[in-house]
Amino acid sequence: MRIINVVAILMILAACSPKSTSKISSVSKKDPFIEQLMSKMTLDEKLGQMTLYTTDWESTGPTIRGGYQDDIKSGRCGALFNSHTVDFTTQLQKIAMEESRLKIPLLFGYDVVHGYKTMFPIPLGEAASWDLEAIEKSAYIMSKEAAASGLHWTFAPMVDITREPRWGRVMEGAGEDPYLGSRIAEARVRGIQGDGFGKMDRLLACVKHFAAYGAPIAGRDYNSVEISERVFRETYLPPYEAAIKAGAKTVMTSFNDYDGVPASGSKYLLTDILRKEWGFDGFVVTDYTSINEMVNHGVAKDATDAGIMAVNAGVDMDMQSAAFQEKIKIGITDGRVKIEKIDASVRRILRLKKELGLFENPYKFSDKQRESKTIMAKEHLEASKDVAKKSVVLLKNSGILPLPKKQLKILVTGPLADDKNNLIGAWSASGEGRHCVSLYEGLRQHPASANYNFEHLKGCEIEGNDRSQFNIILEKASTSDVIILAIGEHKDMSGEAASKTMIRIPGVQEELLKALKTIGKPIITVVMNGRPLVLNEVDLNSDAVIEAWWLGTQAGNALADIIYGDYNPSGKLPICFPRNEGQIPIYYNHKNTGRPLNPTDKYTTKYLDAPNTPLYAFGYGLSYTTFTYSTPSTSKVSFSDADQVTISVNVSNTGNYDGEEVVQLYIRDLIASVTRPVKELKAFKKLMIKKGETKKVEFVLSKKDFEFYDQAMKKTTEAGEFHIFVGSNSDTKNKISVFLTK
Ligand code: NOJ
Repeated sequence: MRIINVVAILMILAACSPKSTSKISSVSKKDPFIEQLMSKMTLDEKLGQMTLYTTDWESTGPTIRGGYQDDIKSGRCGALFNSHTVDFTTQLQKIAMEESRLKIPLLFGYDVVHGYKTMFPIPLGEAASWDLEAIEKSAYIMSKEAAASGLHWTFAPMVDITREPRWGRVMEGAGEDPYLGSRIAEARVRGIQGDGFGKMDRLLACVKHFAAYGAPIAGRDYNSVEISERVFRETYLPPYEAAIKAGAKTVMTSFNDYDGVPASGSKYLLTDILRKEWGFDGFVVTDYTSINEMVNHGVAKDATDAGIMAVNAGVDMDMQSAAFQEKIKIGITDGRVKIEKIDASVRRILRLKKELGLFENPYKFSDKQRESKTIMAKEHLEASKDVAKKSVVLLKNSGILPLPKKQLKILVTGPLADDKNNLIGAWSASGEGRHCVSLYEGLRQHPASANYNFEHLKGCEIEGNDRSQFNIILEKASTSDVIILAIGEHKDMSGEAASKTMIRIPGVQEELLKALKTIGKPIITVVMNGRPLVLNEVDLNSDAVIEAWWLGTQAGNALADIIYGDYNPSGKLPICFPRNEGQIPIYYNHKNTGRPLNPTDKYTTKYLDAPNTPLYAFGYGLSYTTFTYSTPSTSKVSFSDADQVTISVNVSNTGNYDGEEVVQLYIRDLIASVTRPVKELKAFKKLMIKKGETKKVEFVLSKKDFEFYDQAMKKTTEAGEFHIFVGSNSDTKNKISVFLTK
């Protein structure tokens, strides 16, 4: 009888509750519907809402609990991840709605990182497009597909800045730069969440991994982070803040400790910065078992201590540790945890469930017809191909690309030439390799293929030392006009728990390239990978080098468009590619030092055995055409904090193809009270410039672009001279001076 009463109350309240596609509202105001519901909840049920478990479908760490279905029934688990498809989510939701006491709908989360079924390029690759519209669109499509498959919440965007190509998770983010990373973080949040909840084609976003997960010492995953507060605030924090300001409603903690405190137990991060400085009002979930891992970190003596530390620091939901569900009551009883803390977390979580519309209809995302109509729709594949083309970076071209449209015999070789499974990349949700178009397929099914005769042989594997096909490959090469060689990494070589000390092309792939080089035919090398690799030998031995990342479902079609010249490459690297591992960390926005490089002076900052520069710099990428830049001009040589300054430059397409250029603006603060980077990206524009055309590009800068943290860690501007550089990559010397006056 009591149960029926509660259900009746819930239904009436849900019916009275405001419609769910409303704008995202603040949780500081109490919602009568939620307050009523909470007044009925036992402590166990409240802790259940603060608990997230994986199903048995997938996991990325130890599975703490097998009996998650019993936990749903008893109200001891309010959210699940790794459960998707309309069938499976409906089956689980039914348990909550029909067998639990309060019938609070479950929230379903999943790592939809760069596609659900239609796969888009890995995020690092997509960042190379510098195309915020295309990035927002791909985030939207992946959310639309996932929402059609019963999901509510994605653990994305991952916005961790990294200067660490050794770190496998470099593939998941937007690279090394805080400005580019912030703009991409915002675009991805917009794509995932839209401007309100409860829409059928959007998900809840989860900004991760808070904070500084991308700075593990020595690039080893899960390692500690030791960076100054200045570097932390200037380089690592901006994209998290940008994502939150863009409306992201959930945040995931990181595994690492920062300045001695693990993120899942850090009041400084989760309360002081996130809630007090930035006004975040959504909920915080831990990354996997990071609560329990605080015992290994050595800051908690057991899971009870760890759980108490986490909740008091500001964690609202425990993923997989079972610490909230099982241990925290001890802390509530002995006064170490205040019940108000628990209530605040439960309120935040229920609020988002309500805004998603789950109390009105727990099955609203469960429609099989919609699922089958939405997944891999034609326009999704088109969008995937579009962003894939834009993500490709042309690293070298001695003129062989685009391929001339005349009869040619092409040898297509390399272990990734006809591969599909690796093209979806790591973190590929429910994407399947079988849906991908391989490079070889893409080349053959393109209309331009009529000009060419193809021969395909794998040549070697990604790993291992089998050279048995080398002789036959060389024979074929000698009768071919052009060689297209696809080499790189297996998709599991980047991603979580995939750090490396040597970031080279594995196995005998480079040997195959060098052997082919001896034949003397032009070689186009297509590199498929998740991280910056050391590509000196590839550069040296190839006539053209295409950085193709893992491009997703439409990889082969996108690459064919580029190789045949239907699309003029426009991607620019979002991270430096080092010459060797000893240069790491290497990044464009470094300091000048007291002894800046002088090649003729031994006692300046340099190596004896390698240049200071990377092989390919941040922002670098070629086009089939050439662009020339005028010297920048300014609307005001002298300006104050209150002013806006317009910087203009004329960019001319001086080559033979129409093409898109990413015009990049960097600043340098010449003299300040603390040392400043030699360059900082502050703006960019990607635009099409037709052959022979000149376009005027304008950037408006204001106070925020010249700010930095002073010695007291106060954000400020200081009077003085700034160089403003505008060019096509971070190496540009094209500059003018402006003066900030006080
Ligand atoms: C661990 C990963 O670090 C995180 O990014 C992911 O969202 C969770 N596992 C859930 O799969």
